[in-house]
Amino acid sequence: MNNLPIIALDFDSKEAVDQFLDQFDEPLFVKVGMELFYQTGPQLISAIKARGHDIFLDLKLHDIPNTVGKAMEGLSKLNIDLVNVHAAGGSEMMGRALAGLRKHNADIKLIAVTQLTSTTEAMLRDEQNIQTTIEDAVLNYAQLAKDSDLDGVVCSPLEAELLKKELGTDFLKVTPGIRPIDSNTDDQKRITTPEDAKKLGATHIVVGRPITQSDNPVASYHKIKESWLG
Ligand code: C5P
Repeated sequence: MNNLPIIALDFDSKEAVDQFLDQFDEPLFVKVGMELFYQTGPQLISAIKARGHDIFLDLKLHDIPNTVGKAMEGLSKLNIDLVNVHAAGGSEMMGRALAGLRKHNADIKLIAVTQLTSTTEAMLRDEQNIQTTIEDAVLNYAQLAKDSDLDGVVCSPLEAELLKKELGTDFLKVTPGIRPIDSNTDDQKRITTPEDAKKLGATHIVVGRPITQSDNPVASYHKIKESWLG
């Protein structure tokens, strides 16, 4: 798995993905989420892989341990590099997810979503009845993911610093919410630049609209890549 910025392919068809990827003549790391996967399925994964790109399949599985384990066993047959579950599913679910994934593939990394970045402290308190700060809730789930032998978590770059201190540099911290200094923030609230995400301890960044909606996606990608890799 490479450490390039992960481009979120938030498109709704194979044609749109092809049109976007045709502009690049280098290996990339791309993220396929629910919107795209539910409409294009495993065939698209093979097609992207055939172009030589690394793939993060962002499906955020969350169900009973047996179901997630079996689902992961199926996903392990796909040629992907990184996949995820919700830590809220618990340690047994994460363990079964890992075992399922290992059935056909020893290399796919498994990470956990802690608290979605759309969750506010008020939602945590009033809806989930978790009476702590977001940071403590994130750290708790990240620790559970680490204790369950997962490779890392998805988190906000602003949480990466705490997780680096508490869980170490090898534990993956994949961070969305990245915006270059001169770009539109869209609906992202807690954002950093690629350089700051790196300083805070992110091991991978996920960037969507600043690249996919750019007038010149290749130039925007290279600018972000340079500021990320330094
Ligand atoms: O366009 P943008 O750079 O905001 O895209 C970020 C990507 O990361 C989207 O695919 C979004 O769904 C995803 N994501 C996120 N925040 C999370 C988890 C995933 O923005 N906590």
